[in-house]
Amino acid sequence: MSYEDQNQPPYNDPYYGYQPSSSNDPNTAGYEQQGYDNSSYPGYDQSQQQPPAQPQRTAPQLQQLQRVQSGIPGFDQIVGGGLIRDRVYLLAGPAGAGKTIFSTQFLYNGITKFGENGVYVVLEETPQQLRENMFNSFQWDLRQYEDSGNLIILDAISSRLGLSSQENYVVPRPFTLEALLYEIQTAIQRVQAQRVIIDSLDAMSLELTQVDLRSLIQRLTMILKSFGCTTLLVSGQADRSSDPAHMSRKAVEEYVVDGMIRLHHTLEESTSGETMLEENSVQGNTLEEDSFAMKVRARKIEIPKMRGTSHSQYLHPITINENGVEIKSEPEVSRRLRRAVFKAKPVKGDM
Ligand SMILES: Nc1ncnc2c1ncn2[C@@H]1O[C@H](COP(=O)(O)OP(=O)(O)O)[C@@H](O)[C@H]1O
Ligand SMILES: [Mg+2]
Repeated sequence: MSYEDQNQPPYNDPYYGYQPSSSNDPNTAGYEQQGYDNSSYPGYDQSQQQPPAQPQRTAPQLQQLQRVQSGIPGFDQIVGGGLIRDRVYLLAGPAGAGKTIFSTQFLYNGITKFGENGVYVVLEETPQQLRENMFNSFQWDLRQYEDSGNLIILDAISSRLGLSSQENYVVPRPFTLEALLYEIQTAIQRVQAQRVIIDSLDAMSLELTQVDLRSLIQRLTMILKSFGCTTLLVSGQADRSSDPAHMSRKAVEEYVVDGMIRLHHTLEESTSGETMLEENSVQGNTLEEDSFAMKVRARKIEIPKMRGTSHSQYLHPITINENGVEIKSEPEVSRRLRRAVFKAKPVKGDM
């Protein structure tokens, strides 16, 4: 079969496209309306009708929210013990902030430490680039887990760019959002995924109006929740709060999701000092101190919102090293405001 044959969307497939109240889908069946009309139940005797008893409407049991551990050092502590299962989060931050590394680490730990399979939808780089970057930087062998059926990397970039693909899981050409949503569902079902990454939302929604974008994100979140997936929607948008046109778009994403993780990557001044003891034969020893100011790029993380849990309100420093992302759960101290030095009074008699 040629690539083109393989990639023809199954337009004659009755399940193609999203079914909002999907009666085909056992996962969403519970969402369907349960009426109170029991007249069709066997054994129901219409002749013995008593004055209608008030229907016993018991409030649904409130369940303890289950936490999904990221396994990313320091992260679960700042979100009250882990992300909440089945929910959709926005992972936002500028290019190079560490969004792809954070996302991959979340999936990789899910598979290797917590027995949860994953789907990674790539819209900005090819699956092969992701595999190579993650293996070279952190020794995370994604291919191994694709081969063992624990992970699918869904190639959504090739068809978006109109290119062919050698990948096993690929969105067919021509790229449409319907096709993308269908392939995401198929991939989730195939590996019974419990963790999903969409990297990135921006690439997915480039030409959409705000109304379409809101509807897309709402559909996507409904699908992901109905499959019981904990999801990170990656957004490369920097903070555009000063731009009114962008503010409303930002509100669309933030309104729909259950929580937001924001990564910062900013230039900062760091100072360091050096003290030298110089010997001078004429004047004796002198102490000299030099201090330097250098610009460094610093990474930080904050949790602007997270429904259903308490979470840190502070900025926390992040480092990326050969093990991946690491978060300091102690908040960042921006500057020392006051330093008090107490001198002990000399005690009488010591003089
Ligand atoms: N092994 C490593 N050690 C330290 N930093 C790394 C390592 N690998 C990648 N990085 C840093 O991570 C950055 C890329 O992060 P990435 O998650 O791809 O960013 P984003 O997806 O937000 O654009 C690189 O620019 C580099 O600074
Ligand atoms: Mg990235």
